Amino acid sequence: MTHDNPAGSGPRLRGVLDTLPAYKPGRPAAAGSGAPSYKLSSNENPYPPLPGVLEKVASAAASFNRYPDMSCGELTAELAERFGVPPEHVATGTGSVGVAQSLLQATSGPGDEVVYAWRSFEAYPIITQISGATSVQVPLLPDEGHDLDAMAAAITERTRLVFVCNPNNPTGTAVRRDALVRFLDRVPSDVLVVLDEAYKEFVRDPEIPDGIELYRDRPNVAVLRTFSKAYGLAGLRVGFAVAHEPVAEALRKTAVPFGVSQLAQDAAVASLRSEDALLERVDALVVERTRVVDALRAQGWTVPETQANFVWLRLGARTLEFAAACGAAGVTVRPFDGEGCRVTIGEKEANDLFLDVASRLV
Ligand SMILES: Cc1ncc(COP(=O)(O)O)c(C=O)c1O
Repeated sequence: MTHDNPAGSGPRLRGVLDTLPAYKPGRPAAAGSGAPSYKLSSNENPYPPLPGVLEKVASAAASFNRYPDMSCGELTAELAERFGVPPEHVATGTGSVGVAQSLLQATSGPGDEVVYAWRSFEAYPIITQISGATSVQVPLLPDEGHDLDAMAAAITERTRLVFVCNPNNPTGTAVRRDALVRFLDRVPSDVLVVLDEAYKEFVRDPEIPDGIELYRDRPNVAVLRTFSKAYGLAGLRVGFAVAHEPVAEALRKTAVPFGVSQLAQDAAVASLRSEDALLERVDALVVERTRVVDALRAQGWTVPETQANFVWLRLGARTLEFAAACGAAGVTVRPFDGEGCRVTIGEKEANDLFLDVASRLV
């Protein structure tokens, strides 16, 4: 038998893994000092599960010796009805990041290009690289928003997929309807545009479009949504795409079989049926967002317009020092070294603590 591996060097792994950027999860709240500490580093929902959802999950837990419904039938039907789309256009997955990875597997491989704004969601470069494709990162504008003209210009005959993160993680900025429609009209019909709307429920600017309206007459547009943020199910891992065939079908082919647990499916359905309670909580977080942004600006900070459940402070070389000071005061935030900090809108006490630290660091 012949092989290229030197003896004892183990199985040959793909070289692409050597240069993969690491996904850095938000650090947990500091423990141990006895003082209150809060996690504002992962854009989670500070509220516990919606009424009735915990009970649903507890009863589903009694049968987790069984595989879940692989087709996510009940959830798919509920989503299709809610958005007025055919059930065949809904594809579920293990969080929207799982669905995004399936979209890459379905469209892109070595020699292909994937275009997205940068900085944006940190999973994009990782899942692109895993697919074997090449990232084409288009710098954000000075106002921290997407540069859609430059993104359109970056599309070549090698481009297979474009992410538009709306609102953008970590800057919170959002692309408006006219600009997005103009952009979509410029993208060739054989390039898939993925509108990542993980924070959709927090959007209050009426000029920011609902991707599901834009996808309807555009076969090359897919919309990503998640139950992790507004719905508060981050730990259960369930998200979905709305896309035309054959994209949605390709997602079903590339998804991990039985990836979405029955607990997650039942919790998602129950959460969709608790819409009033959901909207109340999201509204309360939006009120807190306005309060935090206004207070930061009054302190003298430059804060970009945010439509998500977080705020962005561009701190440059001061980033790590700022994050450390927040951590020492009991709030963990998400630093991007050399760039800035993303701070999730949490419970009022957490936001107050953060504002207090920020006031001392202006
Ligand atoms: C823009 C964006 N998309 C997708 C996700 C992934 O969310 P999940 O996989 O929990 O659905 C996140 C999570 O932070 C995000 O910020």
